Amino acid sequence: MIDGKKVLFSGMQATGNLTLGNYLGALKNWVSLSDEYECFYSVVDMHSITIRQDPSEFRRRARNLLTLYIAAGLDPEKNCIYYQSHVSGHAELAWILNCFTYMGELNRMTQFKDKAAKHADNINAGLFTYPVLMAADILLYQADVVPVGVDQMQHLELTRNIAERFNNIYGEVFTVPEAYIGKVGAKIMSLQDPSKKMSKSDENPNASIYLMDDPDTIMRKCKRAVTDSEGCICYRDEQPGIKNLIDIYSACTGKTPQETVKEFEGKGYGELKPAVGEAVISVLRPLQEEFARLSKDKAYLDSMIKANAEKAGYYAAKTLRKVQRKVGFPDRIR
Ligand code: TRP
Repeated sequence: MIDGKKVLFSGMQATGNLTLGNYLGALKNWVSLSDEYECFYSVVDMHSITIRQDPSEFRRRARNLLTLYIAAGLDPEKNCIYYQSHVSGHAELAWILNCFTYMGELNRMTQFKDKAAKHADNINAGLFTYPVLMAADILLYQADVVPVGVDQMQHLELTRNIAERFNNIYGEVFTVPEAYIGKVGAKIMSLQDPSKKMSKSDENPNASIYLMDDPDTIMRKCKRAVTDSEGCICYRDEQPGIKNLIDIYSACTGKTPQETVKEFEGKGYGELKPAVGEAVISVLRPLQEEFARLSKDKAYLDSMIKANAEKAGYYAAKTLRKVQRKVGFPDRIR
């Protein structure tokens, strides 16, 4: 608890470009969470170097991601938006937690197996202990809730096990985090294969609308979206492509899927697709403008980065000192 509010922590990697799915499904809905939770959104750059990165490109992406969060409406005075690498407590706690995590547990992590297969030439120890660093991220802030996708559930479960194991030995040190289940946003599917989620790592650029796509690109991708030959603008699972377009249109216009279906009654796909394109453009345009404006305001961004690194560092240090004391490290002489 911080100031009577529960703590929410989430981390995101600056690899890949954010998509409309990330925005409508998550980001957009996070804006209202700061009333209820003390929110920490970390750009987890330390996790990203488990895969080789080009340094200057990586630095640029990390800054863009942080900027985008603010552009999307997350107020950096209410939400702690910071770089993981700016708070040394992440690495320090991760080391301690490494000593409370078993090889067998890490060996079972499906994401490690997937990534090891994908990057067979660089199966480094960081890739293996990645979930422990993630546990440190979460436990360092005594987070109550963590909004994660299904792909991160196994890591969250491990985090809970580590926290409980530690607490069993040393008493109540860590808050045991739960997955955040709250108002979830629209689940946006790929425009090329509506059985898959829209993903920032899709190899097919037409499958995803990126937050920085220009209007022509957005329109083209919407017009090329895979549909079906039913010829009916109906909201049903049997027409996943059309259902997805209805979801996108509804999320962008604030309508319910039923209202959207009504609006397009008697119309064809040739009318729905450009309307979806326009709706997306009108949502992304202000976001892009704000991003461009903020990107130029170096002084403001830098001041937020500095203040939030200090804020995160303050809470991190509190937990870390407690943990260090519990495991028996010598007291610091002041
Ligand atoms: N591993 C997460 C991902 O790739 C990112 C992440 C790192 C994270 N630390 C976290 C997510 C802590 C939630 C909480 O998506």
